[in-house]
Amino acid sequence: MKLLPESKLVVASHNAGKVREFADLLRPFKLDVVSAAELGLPEPDETGATFVENSLIKSRSSAKTSGLLALADDSGLAVEALDGEPGIYSARWAGPDKDFTVAMKKVNDALQARGAVEDKDRRAAFICVLSLAWPDGQTQVFEGKVEGTIVWPPHGTHGFGYDPVFQADGHDITFGEMDPQEKHAISHRADAFNKMLEHLTTRNDDGGRQ
Ligand code: IMP
Repeated sequence: MKLLPESKLVVASHNAGKVREFADLLRPFKLDVVSAAELGLPEPDETGATFVENSLIKSRSSAKTSGLLALADDSGLAVEALDGEPGIYSARWAGPDKDFTVAMKKVNDALQARGAVEDKDRRAAFICVLSLAWPDGQTQVFEGKVEGTIVWPPHGTHGFGYDPVFQADGHDITFGEMDPQEKHAISHRADAFNKMLEHLTTRNDDGGRQ
């Protein structure tokens, strides 16, 4: 299946895990996938105020410096009772050591400080914004979401980041306890990716640009 008229795509990330995940997801579509790190592209500062802005900063930067179609992902955890925090700062809440036991505890402490002990007061969503940027400046954005509850204490050793404290609606185990395939079938990233595929494959020969 041919997804786009372009044959080469750069994943605008220096995170090897993300790049691997996208290479897997894109494998059926006959695209030659390279990463921003492999091409030695600069890593732009994520100075945006939203997931969309940060995703576009990354995809536009890679498209401009590589001359290729670029795909970027910006994602995070938004906790309702914390007014959407940690949100775009999800990675930063883990501190310089990228310690997510610290970040998860911060989320739970903040919820407890607000008296949020019951499930209904601990609503949260993982959000993923994918963006495609073409070298000519055109862009497209796709947002994915999975809703659930913050549980405490953390459970499970699968996944990464906040997975051990996130229980998706309709499930009684956390993302950290789920088989990775099960998580990938319902995750925010899968949701955004499916929206992107649906859009691109139902479009015609200009590859879905508007
Ligand atoms: P980004 O690389 O700037 O988009 O930061 C994403 C951050 O959000 C990660 O470091 C994680 O803390 C969090 N995050 C995003 N997606 C997930 C997920 O699927 N599970 C757990 N944490 C996630």
